Amino acid sequence: MQFQNLKEKIIIIDFGSQVTKLIARRVRDLGVFSEIIAIKDLKKIKNYNRIKGIILSGGPSTVTKKKFPSIPKEIFQKKIPILGICYGLQLITKLFNGSIKSTKIKREFGRADLFNKKNSLLTKNFFNRKNKSVWMSHQDAVTKLPKGFKLIASTKKSKFTIIEKIKDKIYGIQFHPEITHTENGKKIFENFLFLICKIKKKWQISTEKERLVSEIKKIVQKDKVICALSGGVDSSVVALLVNKAIKKNLICIMVDTGLMRKNEFKQSYNIFKTRYKLNVKLINASKLYFKKLKNVVNPERKRKIIGKLFIKIFERESKKFKGIRYLAQGTLYPDVIESRSATGSQSSKIKSHHNVGGLPKKMNLKLIEPLKEFFKDEVRILGKSLGLIESIRNKHPFPGPGLAIRILGKITPQKIKILQEADYIYINELINHGLYHKIWQAYTALLPMKTVGVMGDSRTYEYTCLLRAVTSEDGMSADYFNFPKNFLDKISNKIINGVPGINRVVYDITSKPPSTIELE
Ligand code: XMP
Repeated sequence: MQFQNLKEKIIIIDFGSQVTKLIARRVRDLGVFSEIIAIKDLKKIKNYNRIKGIILSGGPSTVTKKKFPSIPKEIFQKKIPILGICYGLQLITKLFNGSIKSTKIKREFGRADLFNKKNSLLTKNFFNRKNKSVWMSHQDAVTKLPKGFKLIASTKKSKFTIIEKIKDKIYGIQFHPEITHTENGKKIFENFLFLICKIKKKWQISTEKERLVSEIKKIVQKDKVICALSGGVDSSVVALLVNKAIKKNLICIMVDTGLMRKNEFKQSYNIFKTRYKLNVKLINASKLYFKKLKNVVNPERKRKIIGKLFIKIFERESKKFKGIRYLAQGTLYPDVIESRSATGSQSSKIKSHHNVGGLPKKMNLKLIEPLKEFFKDEVRILGKSLGLIESIRNKHPFPGPGLAIRILGKITPQKIKILQEADYIYINELINHGLYHKIWQAYTALLPMKTVGVMGDSRTYEYTCLLRAVTSEDGMSADYFNFPKNFLDKISNKIINGVPGINRVVYDITSKPPSTIELE
């Protein structure tokens, strides 16, 4: 199913930079719809009328080699303003016959001082002092300007850091304005969008609701839709959107794996049933999950068993309803971008993520993915406009395989119970201390080892509980959260006193990379 955005937009051609997504975010934050396009998908664009500007992203390639990723030169003849960032600037230079050299000695990584040489619309009100601190990450540099281009700004190492060809509205910058370390980087985007592309500030996620609802109506008509509801923000927003469009023809299935946080699943079920009046069926499958996971230690096996079982149960339950044609899924924009590669290379698999992807092939259902264009925080805003309660809307992300990947080693009902209790204390204390929303994700894990402790006058030999709390923008990279020391003391004390089975608490201080957010 295609959710076509009919508005004016900016496209970002992706050359494989780690931060291409940030460019899309910055543009959307300024009230303009933006879309990331892989080079290979450019040919699918039949009509450029709605495209008011093109941004060429950075990337790991070099135009100094014989073969390098590029775009058809005709794109420059469409009279659409173009902004090349990093590799984008180098590509523009190459395609217009300037020179680029790879100079290991002159490479620039990190902060650099940028000096203004000439006024430009792109840098209007950007330089409020003589120089500006910008974020660099490059080894290749422009050494000769192409014909018709002018120099706008330089750093000590890169003479041609900002260039422009005013007549054709083509701009190139070597630094990264999308990264927050670039001072006032937002101004560069603002100038490009509103002064150069002359696009209007019209896009707002909250007003997307009506468009999505009417598209769902138009596509589904009188057919039935099924939705796997987990109680997380994505599937909840999908369910409310589809429900708004087709009401009783939406069937939601909640599969309780027994691997969820304490009380959370039942509570979510009650909220959807009574508050939102959804047609929701709760399946208690915890016994089956424990049986299948008995004695399983390997993290990938756990993930595969849980994923497969979920599909089996969901398939079985959906067959009980007649005439279903669609499956609604909470796929987000980052999932779409990450599942395709800008340059055709496959990134190495770290973990098998479990979600409901893959269901339709077997079940012969058509997919509805109304959140496919949006980032997580945009989905939260959409949720607010649909009346989704705060506790679900702003909940930390929770992995599909649940507590199974937070109990290292064998999973037993007793360990689940211990972990649920510890997690309950930890999360509630975060909320009570006003820390929950400062953290992107927090959880407790149970380590597969027992250590000796002393409680009262007796020896204990019990499990170790690990606390994790990270800050992140999208889960792709993360930093550990720096708690005030007293808070950790308090939590350790509460958990050890409140949860029999745990006699030691540790805090994980690794970032991602080199670690990952979850332990398995
Ligand atoms: P990692 O551990 O890969 O986690 O750094 C990144 C983010 O993804 C979540 N996660 C999952 N989410 N199904 C999901 O829906 C999964 O199988 C899964 N595994 C990890 C994790 O909680 C974090 O937010």
